[in-house]
Amino acid sequence: MEKNKPQWSSHLSFIIATVGSAVGLGNIWRFPYIMGKNGGAIFLLTYLLLIAFICIIPLICELAIGKIYRTDTINAFKEINPKFKWLGWLCITTVILIPCFYFVVGGWILNYIWIFISNNLPSDFSSYFTSYSSQIFMPCFLTFVFLIMTASFPYRGVNKGIEKANNIMMPLFALMLIIMAVYALTLPGAKEGLEFMFKPDFSQFSHSMVLTALGQALFTLSIGMGAIITYGSYMKEESHIVKSAYTLIFFDTLIAVIAGVMIFPIVFSFGVTPSAGASLVFIALPEIFTKLPCASFVGLIFFILLFFAAITSGISILETAISAFINNFKISRQKATVLLSIIVAVVSIPATLSFGILDGIKIADKTIFDLLDYVTSNILLPFNTLLICLLSGWCIQSLWKKIFGDNLFGYIFNIILKFIVPIILICVLIAGL
Ligand code: PHE
Repeated sequence: MEKNKPQWSSHLSFIIATVGSAVGLGNIWRFPYIMGKNGGAIFLLTYLLLIAFICIIPLICELAIGKIYRTDTINAFKEINPKFKWLGWLCITTVILIPCFYFVVGGWILNYIWIFISNNLPSDFSSYFTSYSSQIFMPCFLTFVFLIMTASFPYRGVNKGIEKANNIMMPLFALMLIIMAVYALTLPGAKEGLEFMFKPDFSQFSHSMVLTALGQALFTLSIGMGAIITYGSYMKEESHIVKSAYTLIFFDTLIAVIAGVMIFPIVFSFGVTPSAGASLVFIALPEIFTKLPCASFVGLIFFILLFFAAITSGISILETAISAFINNFKISRQKATVLLSIIVAVVSIPATLSFGILDGIKIADKTIFDLLDYVTSNILLPFNTLLICLLSGWCIQSLWKKIFGDNLFGYIFNIILKFIVPIILICVLIAGL
């Protein structure tokens, strides 16, 4: 147990850390390619509407649960009702499974940073990426390096580790992102890229696109596995739940949009199809960078930016499990960090190797890596979010009054929380399965 319950040293630090958690590979790697595959502007519009009107609800609930109960995810659910302790464990299981594929991507990023630093650029990124990711030693080694780097921050504690890392990395991240986006806008494909992003083609609208947008929204806001509950539990008393939620949504969405403004002009300038898929960032973009003036520099900035995004999210993923381990196993923060790191390292080995020697192992036609991604994002996150909403709406006595006070906003929130959001999430789950 930690003797003194940790707390953010200021409201600003809380916002920066929570934005750091939300802004990650989901914004820079996943969002552009999913938007590319789902019709561009129409997807963006749907995603924005869903975030503003639906996802805000579980986000507010998670922040409120954190702030009211001021404990880890498992104990928070136990305090709501001892019968629901298992939901806490389900969230923690989810949050342990995420880094097992997320950190594999972190390892790839480290490798790309290295090749851009050493200016040792392959002539063909497509075959390079395929051959690199199918090796045994290096990808596993770099996944571990990324894990150790990430774990070193929660190891040092909330203020000395997590807060400091975010306060340094997030502003640098924002600066690099803006430089890259401004640069991208000077490229010849800028107009086409922006039209793709902002001019909706309503014929591309489909039911499944709405569901994909919702899944992406949950992932990018770190909802559905206790990360926001954990960061919320360190909130200062004066931090306002609803305002904080809107600030978080504003920055997460802004950064996703700027990431699109950075990526699509580059993509259109060099005639790559935006629907290239998950390889957009590791194959198509580096390929394009090599054709630009100062290729190594642009590539390096891009992958460092991606690194900051990944590590600040990674920290929150680990911290969620660490705080639960500290309280439930009654061990120190340092022991909890080491224990969690060993678990993540072991499970991430098969995920890393699923691009090489283990690529033949398929469950439901998915490799181990794809399966981890699919099960967490498409099944566990919506399922946990559904339960969190139901629990918040039906089991915490007048949560809405505690958040909004006894007024019209509170009533509307309560109805949306109890009925509308659960119904929509059930639709996502059924379609996703
Ligand atoms: N929101 C992060 C991203 O967009 C991912 C994440 C998921 C972080 C779950 C914390 C918890 O990349």
